[in-house]
Amino acid sequence: MQSVRIALKNGADFEGFRRAARQSVARDLPPDRVDWSSGAEPSLFGEAVASEGIAPPLSLPRAAGELIAQVVCHRDPERFALLYRLIWRLLHGEHALLEVHSDPLVHRLETMRKSVRRDLHKMHAFLRFRETTDPDGEARFVAWFEPEHDILAATADFFVERFRSMRWSILTPGGALHWDRERLTFGPPAHKSDAPDGDAFEAAWRRYYESTFNPARANPKAMRQHMAKKYWHNLPETAAIPELLRTAPQRAREMIARGAALPVKRDPALAVAAMADQGPRTLEELNRLIAASEPLTPGADRAVLGEGPIGAEIAFVGEQPGDQEDREGRPFVGPAGRLLDGVLAEVGIDRTKVYVTNAVKHFKYEPRGERRLHKKPNPGEVKRYRWWLLKELELVRPHFVVALGGTALLSLTGKPLSVMKVRGAIQFDGVPGYATVHPSYLLRLPDEVTKREAMATFRRDLERVAAMVAAPPSRSS
Ligand code: URA
Repeated sequence: MQSVRIALKNGADFEGFRRAARQSVARDLPPDRVDWSSGAEPSLFGEAVASEGIAPPLSLPRAAGELIAQVVCHRDPERFALLYRLIWRLLHGEHALLEVHSDPLVHRLETMRKSVRRDLHKMHAFLRFRETTDPDGEARFVAWFEPEHDILAATADFFVERFRSMRWSILTPGGALHWDRERLTFGPPAHKSDAPDGDAFEAAWRRYYESTFNPARANPKAMRQHMAKKYWHNLPETAAIPELLRTAPQRAREMIARGAALPVKRDPALAVAAMADQGPRTLEELNRLIAASEPLTPGADRAVLGEGPIGAEIAFVGEQPGDQEDREGRPFVGPAGRLLDGVLAEVGIDRTKVYVTNAVKHFKYEPRGERRLHKKPNPGEVKRYRWWLLKELELVRPHFVVALGGTALLSLTGKPLSVMKVRGAIQFDGVPGYATVHPSYLLRLPDEVTKREAMATFRRDLERVAAMVAAPPSRSS
């Protein structure tokens, strides 16, 4: 029997493929009878599709839809034929085909998907904007990038979301994206010479990269693996790499002496805020870095930042955000926070005047069905967040610091002290403070009598804190 030729547009023609696949299924055309080509002359069938209107949607598993959307971006000329074969099999008795990872077709499509994902990740991470000026005098940030696959459209949401308030253009050999703060438009293929070369933004980027480069993690082999050489010439910071690698061992020793920093996502928007070679100079800069840092544990929606006035009388340090804090993006707003608020009100401490934060900024949990069960951060994790907390307190400059529970105590002192043993007045690096239990500990106590007693002791702790702040002993210098 004669095969039918379908011509789709060049590149990731998702809409074209979807429409043609629906039509082909509606006509009961098995994969062997469909010849998928891309960028060729439109076929008779292609025109027939357009004039005959829309075929009914296909009933595919959700996972198949996601796979198709990514694999159409792959540059393999066989991508449409492979995807149609998958669709055909899913609809003809093999509904769970995607779970059969050993199936050669599934395996090949998964490998293609991985390659597209890697390409997306690289574009998100390594694309660099350079500042230019539009004819009306406004700044436009222009980037040149050479993706391996046709991912330009797939990446648009990411860049719009990130740089909504800027005018920008992304130029690639396969097409261009332009954003004018309201509208996204696609443009024709571009050439590298259409994009400007280095500028001040780039210099800032390089300084930023140098200041966030973690010498303890310098691993030239891994760097080459993650950042293929072909991207290097576009990246201003690569010029800094040889010197950074040369000085890495010495810098690592210095960093260990200071306490380690977290890995930070490379985000051009942060470059402007964090140009300082010495790291963040304001709480706002620090918070932007924390907000952009990778969670140490997978799953957390966001970093939960400290809250309260600079120069607060008291800073309360907890363990880590819980489920509700992670959802709302604010510290101590869940059950433990409500308990703390109640006791603060009873002892006359105004929560709006104190600073509240956590030793660990991301929610660590274990999924249990729909629920997310809190998991205590381990000492290694607490240590890795410690740099942020100490910097935060240095910038907030509270007069008095309260450690709520063992994790806060570990982070503030760097030592695994028992709260029950050191409970009471304490100094944190010369700043007067107090160590007490975490409110969640009180919530977890099983019997009412113990709970009532523990609550009373906690209340007395905070009364003492209020009294110490009201009449501070002479400050140590
Ligand atoms: N527990 C904490 O330690 N911090 C919060 O923000 C919430 C619960």
